[in-house]
Amino acid sequence: MLLQLDDVVLRFAGNTVLENIRFGVEENSVASLIGPNGAGKTSLFNCITGFYRPQQGSITFGGEELLKRKPHAVTRLGIARTFQNVRLFREMSVLDNVMAGQHCRSRAGAFSAILGLPSQRAEERRVREICEECLEFVGIADEADRIATNLAYGHQRLVEIARALATQPRLLLLDEPAAGLNSSEKTELVRLIRRIRDERGVAVLLIEHDMGLVMEVSEHISVLDHGRIIAEGNAETIQNDPAVIEAYLGQDEDELELT
Ligand SMILES: Nc1ncnc2c1ncn2[C@@H]1O[C@H](COP(=O)(O)OP(=O)(O)OP(=O)(O)O)[C@@H](O)[C@H]1O
Ligand SMILES: [Mg+2]
Repeated sequence: MLLQLDDVVLRFAGNTVLENIRFGVEENSVASLIGPNGAGKTSLFNCITGFYRPQQGSITFGGEELLKRKPHAVTRLGIARTFQNVRLFREMSVLDNVMAGQHCRSRAGAFSAILGLPSQRAEERRVREICEECLEFVGIADEADRIATNLAYGHQRLVEIARALATQPRLLLLDEPAAGLNSSEKTELVRLIRRIRDERGVAVLLIEHDMGLVMEVSEHISVLDHGRIIAEGNAETIQNDPAVIEAYLGQDEDELELT
């Protein structure tokens, strides 16, 4: 397993949000984490990426323990993420937004940055090339100089994916990447996720409420409900699991596409 969680427990003021989570993501695979609203999916991402500190358990990535690391250190180890709500710097260009995510990999230190040394300028060029390539990869290179928040919503989500890819991850975490996309954008997203795995060798773990998309793209699906993993397996196994169907009862109509 590339990523492995064991016995992870997360509590907030006595409220258990994640309970003894055991969960893994294989190298070079596409996996999904699904479950009703409030199940703990985003919290699980926050534990992996160092935003939340679980009270118990272990999270390893390529054999390294992540639990006591800060978010930027987790990024440097090779885990990138996007957020459930688009987070872009306002008034900054698309390219600058992507470059802002890349600095964890900068080799030139803060001193040469402040002094504007030649090593810093070469570094800046290298970073820029990587970011331009990532924009090309997600298909919005022609929008590099536009103010990011002026882009169509679907393209803003692509900026976030490009920013994550620019950190050169081995694992990409996507939190509801299809939310707010129309059906042709969703088809494109499926293609992009597959290309991220196949052409870049990056494993993808996605949180998603669009069941059609999840079933189409995922090799492995885990279902979280009230902070517990209640089912795991491929699309067929999950769709026919009574515990999963039960967990989704009472959800909104558009999220009841399991049956
Ligand atoms: N920082 C926090 N402090 C207190 N409670 C929190 C915190 N973060 C998350 N929670 C609680 O953890 C539970 C799970 O929330 P989380 O956002 O992980 O759910 P989710 O599965 O991502 O839901 P959604 O599908 O709606 O995004 C919720 O009850 C939430 O209130
Ligand atoms: Mg969430």
